[in-house]
Order: sequence, then C-alpha cells, then structure tokens
Amino acid sequence: MKKRVLSIVLALSMVATLLVGCGNNTTNEVEKTNEVVADTTTDVVVEEGVQVGIVLPTKDEPRWLQDQAQFETVLSDAGFTNQVLFSQGSSATEKTNVETLISQGIEVLIICAQDGAAAAAAVEEAKEAGVTVIAYDRLITGTDAVDYYVTFDSFSVGVAQGQYLIDNASGAGTPLYLYSGAATDNNAFIFFDGAWSVLQPKVADGTFVIVNSSEAVALQDKSELTRDELGTIIGQITTDWDFNKAKSLAEANLTNASTDQKGDVCILAPNDGTARSIADTFAADADVATYVVTGQDAEKASIQYIIDGKQSMTVFKDTRTLAADSVTMAVAILNGETPSTDTTYNNTVIDVPSKQTAIVTVTQDNVKAVLIDSEYYSADDFVGVE
Ligand code: BGC
Repeated sequence: MKKRVLSIVLALSMVATLLVGCGNNTTNEVEKTNEVVADTTTDVVVEEGVQVGIVLPTKDEPRWLQDQAQFETVLSDAGFTNQVLFSQGSSATEKTNVETLISQGIEVLIICAQDGAAAAAAVEEAKEAGVTVIAYDRLITGTDAVDYYVTFDSFSVGVAQGQYLIDNASGAGTPLYLYSGAATDNNAFIFFDGAWSVLQPKVADGTFVIVNSSEAVALQDKSELTRDELGTIIGQITTDWDFNKAKSLAEANLTNASTDQKGDVCILAPNDGTARSIADTFAADADVATYVVTGQDAEKASIQYIIDGKQSMTVFKDTRTLAADSVTMAVAILNGETPSTDTTYNNTVIDVPSKQTAIVTVTQDNVKAVLIDSEYYSADDFVGVE
C-alpha cells in the first residue's frame, strides 16, 4: 500500500499521540508513527485508503450536512483518511454504503442509522470484518455489534422543548399539539419521553389540553410511559422526520380542531425541519391567534425563523463537539486503547458504552451569544443579526 508523508498541525488538543492505521490491513495491525504533541507541526505517515468510514442518513436535511462538514474538517485535520456516504433515507443503501466502506479497508465505522433496528444487519457485517462500530447520534438497536455510541443528551432535548412550552403557555387550558420524529429512530422515543416528563404534570393540572392525539389523552394521567405506550402515541403523531408529512398532519389536525382548540396554542415540534412546516401551517390558520413552537438542530433556516419570530426556540446540538468526540474515539481505537465514555445506553441487547454531550436552548434572546459569538455561524448568514 502506498504511503505519503503529510506535515500537519494538530489543532486538536485531544490528539496527544497520532497513530495511523493501515487502511486495508486485514490483520488490523496499527502502525505507530511519530509521536506528536498537540498544537505542533509534525510529519506523519498516512496510509492511502480509507481508515474511518462515516455513514449519515440523508443529504436532504441540513442537520446532516452540518455533521458532514464537521467530520471532514476534524478527520482531515487529524490526518485520517475518511469517506462520508449518505443513505438517502434507505436502509438498503445504508447497508451497501457500509459494505463499500468495508471493502475500502476501514477500521472504524461511524454510522448514524436510517432505521435503528434495520441497521443491525449492516453493523454485524462490519463487526465480522473486524471493524469497530461507533453509533453516531442515533442508537442501533437489537444487536451486540455496536461498540460505542456518541450522542447528545436526547432526553434533555425533549425536556428543553417541553419546558419552553410550559414557560410560554398562555394560561390554564392552553391547547397543546404534539408531534414526534420517526418511529424507526430511537431518538424519537427519547425526545418524546423527555418532553412528556415535564408536560404530563402540566396536562394533569389543566395548564394544557392535548388536542391532536387520543392516544396521548388516554395516557395523560401516567407520568412514566413504557416503550410500547410511547410507541402508541408516536404512531399517531409521527412526522417521520419529513416536513411534507408534518405539514399534512398539521393541516389534518387543524381541520379536525374546533375553534376553542385554536386561539393561543402550544406546539411540540420535534425538530427544525418539521417545526418550520408546522409553524407555517398554524400561521396560515385564521383561528390560530398565536403559537409557540419548539424545534431542534439550530438549522440556519430555523435561526432565521427565530429571528423573524416565526419559530419560538430551537435546541442547539453542537455538531463540532459530536464530530470531535467521535474522532477522539477513533484515535483511541486506532491506537489500541479503550475510548473514554461517560454513560451507557441500552439497545435492548447490550449496554453500549456511550459519550454524551449537553444541549443548549436557543431563543431570540441568546441566538447571537450561542451561535454567532461561538462562530458556529456567521452574522452574515442571517438578516437582522448584528
Ligand atoms: C436527530 C435530530 C434530527 C432528526 C431528523 C434525529 O435522530 O437527533 O437532530 O433532527 O434525527 O433527522
């Protein structure tokens, strides 16, 4: 295999020793090159071939393009050859992507599953080929072939969304519309569970009246829901993470709602893409006086909506941190070390060692401080931010 010498500046303080593995090395041997100290320039020998393979769910949602950009930057800066492939909403494409990366000799697979259960077969194939599997953002369920999980604190995402609605409800009897992510995504359950943990007591005390889910109404006296109960509610209010489906569901819900179920309303929308279409639908209804709507991902389009007062909040999940955490793990793995983790997530078969990152609620009040001052975005990306 050809080698090339790169002079790189290691900007990542977490990379204390850079070990470069053989891309197509069937013995999984790790080749140690120059020891390097963070923030210094050094020559390292890089095997050509792909060392770290990344599979992301779709290019059609800005969220995953943010992650792609971070991966490409962080992995190249750290001197790793890598390739990012998109599954475009198909578990079959996802499996083909994994097989392609295996054939390119990857040693570490970082994968955000299209469908958490269906992805089990793909990662089992990777494991059999000697690849270490890191589930990224979405947990892969029903298999022992997941080595690590790098995630945001998804329960806190739901809590932040629910708490925002509570803090901004218009008083007793506020109509509450509930929407969720895709039932194939384990995160959709965790987000909803987090939101329910704070909203349910406020439904029980009459602050909110659930409008669009008879299943949620049937369970509204239960503070803790089982996975099956969550699944029953999600089955009724799912957007499938699809903004078109979110729009038609919101339209159907408003068509069925009476005038007294409109007025000043609160809406639990699971992410930014669906929040924008749900918000537009509610804004277009003459009987909706005001609406409070949640989101997550801090997508640029939603930040503009927040600045313009069309979306109430989002949850910022700093993809720089998640990508860096994954790379730290990849470095440790290629180095023959055990990556550091801080919690576990049960995937129905095993407790997966996990690294969890905190989230931040973003509103008009802190959008500049959180997103512009931290240089995640530039003020020029938006109209109305100095
Ligand atoms: C991610 C969200 C994203 C959603 C839809 C979830 O698994 O955690 O950030 O908005 O998928 O792609």
